Amino acid sequence: MRIIRTRQELHQSIKSLETGSIGFVPTMGYLHEGHLALIQKAKSENDFVVMSIFVNPLQFGPNEDLTAYPRDEKRDLKLAEEQGVDILFLPNVSEIYPVPLSTTIHVEKRVDVLDGEKRPGHFDGVATVLLKLFHLVMPNRAYFGQKDAQQLAIVEALVEDYFLPIAIQRVETVREADGLAKSSRNINLTVDERKEAPIIHQALLAGKKCILDGVEDETTILAEVQKTLGKVTKKVDYLALYEYPSFKAVTDFSRTLILAIAVQYEKARLIDNELIKRGEENA
Ligand code: PAJ
Repeated sequence: MRIIRTRQELHQSIKSLETGSIGFVPTMGYLHEGHLALIQKAKSENDFVVMSIFVNPLQFGPNEDLTAYPRDEKRDLKLAEEQGVDILFLPNVSEIYPVPLSTTIHVEKRVDVLDGEKRPGHFDGVATVLLKLFHLVMPNRAYFGQKDAQQLAIVEALVEDYFLPIAIQRVETVREADGLAKSSRNINLTVDERKEAPIIHQALLAGKKCILDGVEDETTILAEVQKTLGKVTKKVDYLALYEYPSFKAVTDFSRTLILAIAVQYEKARLIDNELIKRGEENA
């Protein structure tokens, strides 16, 4: 595995891979099985896998967890190597943002709801860094987790808007045995919060069941979810149901829907979702 920290070295390395396809896995590190699933899918579909680890300051709000974001470069290097990553790109902030931006990327669609609404500017930061990384890596395919469904839909639209010749590949959410979605942020949960957190997924499944059973009243569905969330309800940042991937209000319950929850714990904000399509077990 080549470990690369500068754009210049990355350029040279990518050039030397000219003959094969490149699968790209952008991450913010503190790797877990969710990230590893992206690497595995990328490996199975490409000749080479490039992974980036970069905690992107642009996508964190002023009161968010940029400084508390967990980091462990040594462990990440070992995991990436074991998984068979070919090139690991670990730039520092000045490598990605050498000068203040003259041109900014502003996401127009799907940012009036969920994390777009709760974290103003977040998806502008995500789109900006990804556009930079896509240009540096020039991958054939790039891999994103369903866990961040709004991010995934926004990236698909970014690629479409700007004719980027990159196929965006979706990977299912990887979970702990008790259903909690794997996340780098789980390490910042207290012992009690960790015990409680699987309720988020249970609540999503309760809502999913309701919809698959044919309930077509949003208030009833969300009330069912709230019932399972129980005491977690007061920490809920959002709980909402939309059509997917438009993130518009539901007008037709036979379409693919997304039920999404964010919970703000003391030092970690967790998000999770379920895609739901009546007549299909896995949307
Ligand atoms: P990060 O949170 O590190 O996630 C990197 C990728 O891993 C994302 O595509 C995310 O959806 C995926 N992922 C995270 N947890 C997962 C899980 N439990 N199962 C499956 N996939 C999972 O998302 C980001 O970083 C950043 O916003 C980034 C895209 C790198 C831009 O800075």
